[in-house]
Amino acid sequence: MFSSFKGHPFVFLLWFLVFVTLLTVGFFIKLLSNWGWKYVLFYDDKNTNFKGCFKTPDNATKAFPLIAFMPAMTVGKCVDFCTEKKLSLAVLAGQRCLCGFSTKHFPLHVRENITRCLYHCPGQPHENCGTDIYNVVYQTEVQDNRCMNRSFLLDQPKQLIALASFPGSGNTWARHLIELGTGFYTGSYYFDRSLFDKGFKGEKDDWRSGRNICIKTHESSKKEIEAFDSSILLIRNPYRTLMAEFNRKYGGHVGFAPMLLWKGKTWPKFVEVYSEMWASHTLAWLSYSGPLHVVHYEELRRDIFIHLRGLVLFLGLRLSVDRLLCAENQREGRFRRSGLHRLGYDPFTEDMRTSIDYHIKKVDIALRAKTFSGVPDEYHLRQI
Ligand SMILES: *[C@@H]1O[C@H](CO)[C@@H](O)[C@H](O)[C@H]1NC(C)=O
Ligand SMILES: *[C@@H]1O[C@H](CO)[C@@H](O)[C@H](O)[C@H]1NC(C)=O
Ligand SMILES: *[C@@H]1O[C@H](CO)[C@@H](O)[C@H](O)[C@H]1NC(C)=O
Repeated sequence: MFSSFKGHPFVFLLWFLVFVTLLTVGFFIKLLSNWGWKYVLFYDDKNTNFKGCFKTPDNATKAFPLIAFMPAMTVGKCVDFCTEKKLSLAVLAGQRCLCGFSTKHFPLHVRENITRCLYHCPGQPHENCGTDIYNVVYQTEVQDNRCMNRSFLLDQPKQLIALASFPGSGNTWARHLIELGTGFYTGSYYFDRSLFDKGFKGEKDDWRSGRNICIKTHESSKKEIEAFDSSILLIRNPYRTLMAEFNRKYGGHVGFAPMLLWKGKTWPKFVEVYSEMWASHTLAWLSYSGPLHVVHYEELRRDIFIHLRGLVLFLGLRLSVDRLLCAENQREGRFRRSGLHRLGYDPFTEDMRTSIDYHIKKVDIALRAKTFSGVPDEYHLRQI
């Protein structure tokens, strides 16, 4: 039966058709991956971030360790090139691809109007490659590791500096930034194994070891405050702080308190007790500590560079602009609770607000009396 088909011209035709079909499909896949597909993939790529349009630095040779001339430049070519060279910025300047890090020569702090960068790439008209003067900047998937090395303090005269905050004020995040910005580990008055496992190596030390640049504490008694030589006081909007702490306290590993507790009696009781505690904690640090530096969580979030610089100077360390810029690039860290859950409604009643606003006012007055600036404006905003 089959042998009668062998050598039949029909079989050859069939094989020929299969061959041509494969060739055509292959050709289209290749074509798609050359432009369309890669183009789409590129912009969806979570590891590559568009940073914006920036004016080129005065001396590009000084600002970038690597500069390549690419007559047929595309975004992908430059990003791939810089990624391969293990550099975390890909800077497109027309036909030049510059790779490097953000440094004092190119700090990426002043964004230009994006329209200045809308110039087609020589090798891909769908994409923008900027010009010699206005550069399109992407962050590659290469992590900025310049500030990841940290060590314990050695040989310094022992000094205990508190990093004081009320629970829920972003203490862990601030420690992360301080470690990156200073190059030294931070310690804690407590021991939290999960933080140690996440790389906070100072967590295991006795808090009086003197090996850490500052020490996390939520304490607020006069005696405990006075045990420190100087202090950083981290303050966060109590509305946010209370919600964060309620979720931490009742959310367990999920990090989000059950709806039953939000809607029941637990939340109002919590607000009553904790808003009072928020104020007394803050007021105690303002009155009992020696040299004091106040940081507002919200301001730190808004401008890491400026406020982290203030912290480094208060800690009496030499400033490294590159470390600060690197810390800015690593701003989130890998320990944040998922922000997926949102409450979906405003949990603060009018009574709660009146009482919280009263506590904010007290703290504001105490701050001003110590010649600090008062609480940020948004603490007074009646919205969450
Ligand atoms: C730019 O920087 C490089 C390397 O530091 C230096 O050799 C060169 O002279 C500088 N050029 C200008 C115009 O400043
Ligand atoms: C950017 O420039 C365009 C065109 O000059 C202008 O219409 C637009 O308002 C500018 N955008 C900003 C944010 O300045
Ligand atoms: C981290 O590395 C940089 C560059 O290699 C070095 O100058 C700095 O002293 C190191 N810092 C620490 C804390 O080890």
